Parts: sequence; C-alpha cells; structure tokens
Amino acid sequence: MDASARVMSVTGAVSSRSSKRAFLDRPVDGGLLRQLLAAAARSPSGGNLQPWHVDVLGSDELVRFKALIRQKMAADPRGDGPGYDIYPPDLRDPYRARRNRCGEDMYGSMGISRDDKASRLAFIAGNYQFWGAPVGMFFTVDRRMGPPQWSDLGMYIQTFMLLAKEAGLDSCPQEAWTLWHRTVADFIGLPEERMLFCGLALGYADPEHPVNRLRTERAPLEDFVVFRGI
Ligand SMILES: Cc1cc2nc3c(=O)[nH]c(=O)nc-3n(C[C@H](O)[C@H](O)[C@H](O)COP(=O)(O)O)c2cc1C
Repeated sequence: MDASARVMSVTGAVSSRSSKRAFLDRPVDGGLLRQLLAAAARSPSGGNLQPWHVDVLGSDELVRFKALIRQKMAADPRGDGPGYDIYPPDLRDPYRARRNRCGEDMYGSMGISRDDKASRLAFIAGNYQFWGAPVGMFFTVDRRMGPPQWSDLGMYIQTFMLLAKEAGLDSCPQEAWTLWHRTVADFIGLPEERMLFCGLALGYADPEHPVNRLRTERAPLEDFVVFRGI
C-alpha cells in the first residue's frame, strides 16, 4: 500500500505508539521501510539542515551484527563504554523518580522483582539483540552539530516511529547502543566525523508478551505547561 493511502489519524498514531520490547518473527517489507524513511524526512529541521543519517540492518547483516555483539558481550558486557552520557550524572527529581518508575513498571509488567538482579540484567541485555526485531536501525549525526540539530534528529525519529505505527509496525528507540558505539561504527563503516545517537528496533510487536502491555505514565499538563493569556 502506498504510504499516502493509509488512514490512521495523527492522534491515533501518537496515542497508540509505545516502546515495544518483544517482536514477532515476521519480516518487514523493504519497500515499505524505504517509503517510511523517505516520508519521515518531511520532518522540520532548523535551516532545513536535515542532519539525520540512518543505517538499516536486516536479514543476514542483522544476524551477523547480533552474533558479533553476543560474542563481544560474552567477553565484556560493559561494551565499549558510552559515547555520551545517556542521562546527566546528577539526575534529580522529578526526572530521577520518573526514570525509576519507568524501570519498576517495566520489570513489574513481567513479574520481575526489584531484588531479582539476574532476571533484570538478562532482560535488559535484549536491548543488544534489538529485542528480537527483524530490523535494526542506527541514527547518527555529525559531531560538529549541537543541541538544535540533535533535536532535529529526534523529530525525524519520532516522525518515523509514528509513520511506522500507522503502517502497523512497532518500534523501540534505543540509546543503550551508545555503550557499543565503537563496535557499531566499525560495523557500519561510520565516517569519523559522525557519531551514534541511538538505535531503533523495528518490527511487528508480540502482542502476547507482557512487557508490551506496559503503558508508561505521563506527568499532568500543569506540571510542564505554563499558560499566560490563554
Ligand atoms: C531517544 C530514546 C532512547 C531510548 N532508549 C531506550 C533503550 O535503550 N532501551 C529501551 O528499552 N528503551 C529506550 N527508550 C524508550 C523509553 O524508555 C520510552 O520511550 C519511555 O519509557 C516512554 O515509554 P513509551 O515509549 O512506551 O511511551 C528510549 C526512548 C527514547 C526517546
């Protein structure tokens, strides 16, 4: 189906998208993926710089990459060391509490208790297999770009995820890949001037897996909007 022929409303895509962490063994059509990636480039960017770059892995390439990561993780699960700080080192409330809550809710959805470190670690390692998705993606950006262009990249990723949702696909954006940024860069032949922001797992979510029923909370409007004159 042509991308323009789909019918989900923007509101429907925004409200039904959520991060999925278990996928069906069902391939994603390459033509559809190309359409979605092209359509997402209608995202705005300051000065129309379009500072996004995407690498897509599927089929044999994904198998080869995941095998490499499994092998490297067995040797040292800490990876290459992060390419950037995922969170500020002194993350404070309310952000700290939200992050903790998100983790508790995620493990709670699967009945994994706070003390069960082994199960938590085993589950989170699934990040590095793209949660079993048939497509793995990497988003990279020129190192000289600053916060405005990183924000542009984020808009591209969100637009892509919403278009994917409309096409019946699910996703999970993954900053966790920064722990393996050198390995990723080597594998995809990333030019030195670009750095990895995040990965993204793409595919058809497993509706039976309890983690996929997670519905994360959001702060109420009054907590983040100030109205003046309206
Ligand atoms: C840029 C970005 C990076 C993320 N990285 C990860 C990740 O590495 N692993 C993961 O499981 N979830 C990751 N997430 C998903 C967030 O945990 C999720 O978006 C958040 O908890 C809100 O839940 P929702 O996406 O289901 O609405 C990431 C989200 C974003 C936007």
